[in-house]
Amino acid sequence: MSKDLIQKYNIAGPRYTSYPTVPFWNKEGIAYENWIDTTKTAFSESNQTEGISIYIHLPFCESLCTFCGCHKRITKQHHVEQPYIETVLKEWDLYCELFDEKPRIKEIHLGGGTPTFFSPDSLTKLINGILDKAEKCEEYEFSFEAHPNNTTKQHLQNLYDLGFRRNSFGVQDYDPKVQKTINQIQSFETVKAVTELSKEIGYTSISQDLVFGLPFQTTESIVDTITKTKELKPDRIAFYSYAHVPWIKGVGQRGYDENDLPSPEEKRAMYETGKKMFAELGYVEIGMDHFALKTDSMHKAMDNKTLHRNFMGYTASKTQLMVGLGMSSISDSWYAFAQNAKTVEKYTELVNSGKIPIFRDHELSKEDLIIRKHILNIMCHFETSWSDEALQFPELQECLDRLKEMEQDGLVKITENGLSLPESARPFVRNVCMAFDLQLIRNKPTTRIFSMTI
Ligand SMILES: C[S@@+](CC[C@H](N)C(=O)[O-])C[C@H]1O[C@@H](n2cnc3c(N)ncnc32)[C@H](O)[C@@H]1O
Ligand code: SF4
Repeated sequence: MSKDLIQKYNIAGPRYTSYPTVPFWNKEGIAYENWIDTTKTAFSESNQTEGISIYIHLPFCESLCTFCGCHKRITKQHHVEQPYIETVLKEWDLYCELFDEKPRIKEIHLGGGTPTFFSPDSLTKLINGILDKAEKCEEYEFSFEAHPNNTTKQHLQNLYDLGFRRNSFGVQDYDPKVQKTINQIQSFETVKAVTELSKEIGYTSISQDLVFGLPFQTTESIVDTITKTKELKPDRIAFYSYAHVPWIKGVGQRGYDENDLPSPEEKRAMYETGKKMFAELGYVEIGMDHFALKTDSMHKAMDNKTLHRNFMGYTASKTQLMVGLGMSSISDSWYAFAQNAKTVEKYTELVNSGKIPIFRDHELSKEDLIIRKHILNIMCHFETSWSDEALQFPELQECLDRLKEMEQDGLVKITENGLSLPESARPFVRNVCMAFDLQLIRNKPTTRIFSMTI
């Protein structure tokens, strides 16, 4: 890929886990009743047909990985587990009170922070508490994120017994200097042990998170990390582009600075090297950031065009209602988004007052819903179409005009009724989405809020 193109298109832009993206949500207070109403509507429209998804945010980690951009709370005090789980179950009760029948659960995902910070017993109590008020869909998918250093056989067994079949381990990079700088130190042997245990117990989809663009990382360290990863043959690999966002409150990216990061060209070379190695190993690129073996459900979802993207990243199936439980979790009723309070204290206080603990939300306008569909199509399938009148909107031609230069640069192909990205243009997918992002275009941010696109 040419250096000129990388320089030209490497700009700050959203990762599009939602549209509108969070900075462009409604800024005029919370429309609490509206959130309740759209949740009820989404539930009654979809519970019997597709079921609902639940995301549970488990924020605690024992130590801070300095590169991490997630919402986490660092503590070694494990007495925080019980009260937190009780609060999450209370929040679940508040949602169940809104439903006029038993929720049917299609997906549960435990994210973090570090879900395996919690003891196996605590996690069992949590999941049983959720399932007590619900039933599982015939085909369901339960998954969890795990830290290789603190995942025990008992964690894996308890969660397997509760129906979990997918897990993902944060690996990032095996290079000692990189690990030391980002303060996430784990050996290949540890990752190997938890991977083999997962396979023995019966997990059918094991994923590993790798990151490129970290401080002091080199193409050689990526090659070494992927060579090691190859030995464990995970079903999926998330190959994330490092998002450098030190200005975001609470992120805490420190201990290194911009000078320690690879240049945009070096970073792109890391991605290209990784992508080539994954292809040689039989992995297929899925959307942005992800690779999967052909046997994995995510690959099947891409083939069947059922791949979906939400706040958790890519998922193999879509539900209209996603209930996010726990501090900072985001929920999606398709017609609206809402985010829970971002500190454990505020979150707990709101739940204890008997309220769904949201602190900001956004009701999607008719225009938002159309743009959301196009952005989902582009992010998931690298193409979209407006041949259906319902997907046309007044500013469509202006959006296409904005893409003229990208078209001339060979990054997008526009036809009469649609557009597609050639394989080589996939790294620019966020740039293509930005041409459709009417919220961003109308309200250009004056400060840095997004990471770089490449
Ligand atoms: C929320 S973490 C949960 C995993 C678990 N806590 C662990 O560390 O093993 C999920 C993943 O997000 C990715 N991640 C975190 N911060 C990132 C950043 N600034 N840029 C890109 N990816 C990041 C990492 O790959 C990490 O494994
Ligand atoms: S990478 Fe994982 S363990 Fe490290 S701080 Fe982030 S969430 Fe916690």
